[in-house]
Amino acid sequence: MAAGGDAIGRDDDGRVVFVEGGLPGEVLDVEITDERKDFARGRVTAVLEPGPGRTAPPCPNVALGCGGCQWQHIGPVTQLELKAAVVDDALRRIGRFSPEELPAMTTHAVAPTGYRTTLRMAVDRGGRPSYRLRHSHQLLAPAQCMVAHPALEELVVEGRFPGAREVTARVSAATGERLVLVTPRAVEVRVPPDVIVVGANSLKKGRPAFIVERVAGRDWRVSALSFFQSGPAAAEALVGVVDAAVGEALPTGGLVVDTYAGVGLLGGVVAARRAARLVAVESSASSVDDASHNLVDLEARVERASIDHWRPSLGGSPDVVIADPPRAGLGAAAAEVLTGLGASRLILVGCDPASLARDARLITSAGYTLSGVDVVDLFPHTFHIEAVARFDRIVRDATHPVQSSP
Ligand SMILES: C[S@@+](CC[C@H](N)C(=O)[O-])C[C@H]1O[C@@H](n2cnc3c(N)ncnc32)[C@H](O)[C@@H]1O
Repeated sequence: MAAGGDAIGRDDDGRVVFVEGGLPGEVLDVEITDERKDFARGRVTAVLEPGPGRTAPPCPNVALGCGGCQWQHIGPVTQLELKAAVVDDALRRIGRFSPEELPAMTTHAVAPTGYRTTLRMAVDRGGRPSYRLRHSHQLLAPAQCMVAHPALEELVVEGRFPGAREVTARVSAATGERLVLVTPRAVEVRVPPDVIVVGANSLKKGRPAFIVERVAGRDWRVSALSFFQSGPAAAEALVGVVDAAVGEALPTGGLVVDTYAGVGLLGGVVAARRAARLVAVESSASSVDDASHNLVDLEARVERASIDHWRPSLGGSPDVVIADPPRAGLGAAAAEVLTGLGASRLILVGCDPASLARDARLITSAGYTLSGVDVVDLFPHTFHIEAVARFDRIVRDATHPVQSSP
C-alpha cells in the first residue's frame, strides 16, 4: 500500500498503477483515471481475485462515493497490518534504516466505530454538514456516520447551518457537552438546545467556547480552535503508548519537555504520573490557553512558541523530550532544536510515515539510536497512520561507545 491509501500494482505492461480501493495480492479490473510517464492512477471496477482482508464496506455512504473513509473495503485487522507495513517501508526507503537498525514494531488500535468526537465538515446548500465525495468538490450530507460518536453523529446528521461554509462539531464523550464552530458566522442555526454554537467571527472577539473531555483520569479543557486527538479513545491509546515509551527514562521529579503540546495531553499525563516537572511548548494561542488551564495542578510551564525558533531556557538537559508535530513533521530546524536539548530519550509522534522517517533519520544523525516503534491506529477505516518512535541518546565514551541506559 502507498502512504496515501492506494494499493500499488502493475498493469499488463508492467507499469506501476496506484489503485484506489485495491489491496495487496489482488487481481483487479481498474479504470485508469490519470496517466503519467512512469505510472498511472486508477480505481477498481471489478475484483477478479480478492486479497486477504477484503471485506464489504460496513458503511452505506461508501457506495454513495463518500470521501470520509478510504479503507472501508479492508477488515480492521488487515488495516492495522497494512499501516504497520507502510511505516516499516517508509523507515527503510525514506529513512534509509537497515533491518538491523529497525526495532520490532508493535501495533495498537482503537475500536473502529463511534471513535470520532470532532468532525470538520463542509456545509451544503441546504445547510447540512457534508463530506466531500471522493475526487470531487461535490458534497454528500450523510444520513449516518459510523465512525462518529453517537452524540456527534446526531449533531451532524440533524443539525442545519444555512448560509455557512463549514462547521466544526465537537462533543465530549465524558460530559456529553457539544459545541459547533460555524464558519463564517452562525445565523439561523438549528441544533438541539444543549449545543454551544459559536461563529468564527465572534470567537475572534474572545467569546470562550470549549468542552471538557476526560482522558487518563484527568479533565481536559478543549476549546473550539484547539487541536485534540480523534477522540478520547485515541487520546487514551496514544497516551498509553507514549507513557510506556517514556518508561523509566523520566524519574520522579525529573524534567520532561512536551513540544507541539496542544492542550497539554501527552506531557501532562506523563508528568502527572511521575510527579515530574513539565515544560510544554505550543504555537496556537487557543491550545496554550487550554494547556495552561489543564496543567495548573502540575509543576508545569507552558510556553507559546514555534519550535523551529524556540529559544529554550531550561537550566540543563531534560530527561525526556516528546514531539508530536503536524503532518509536515519536524524538519531540520526543529529537529536541531530538539536534539540540541540533550535529553536521554526523545519520543516522536508522527501522523505521516514519510515525515516520520525523514525526522527519524535527522534524529539518529544527531546522536540518537532508534529504540522503539509503535503503530497506533487512531483513525480506523481511513488511511491515516500514527506512529510513535522512541530514540535513546548515544553516550560516547572515548574508549567504549555505549548507549545511555536511563
Ligand atoms: C498533532 S497536534 C499534537 C497535540 C498534542 N500533542 C496532543 O496529543 O493533543 C500538533 C500541535 O502542534 C501545534 N503546532 C503546529 N506547528 C507548530 C510549531 N511550529 N511549533 C509549535 N507548535 C506547533 C499545533 O497547534 C497542534 O496543537
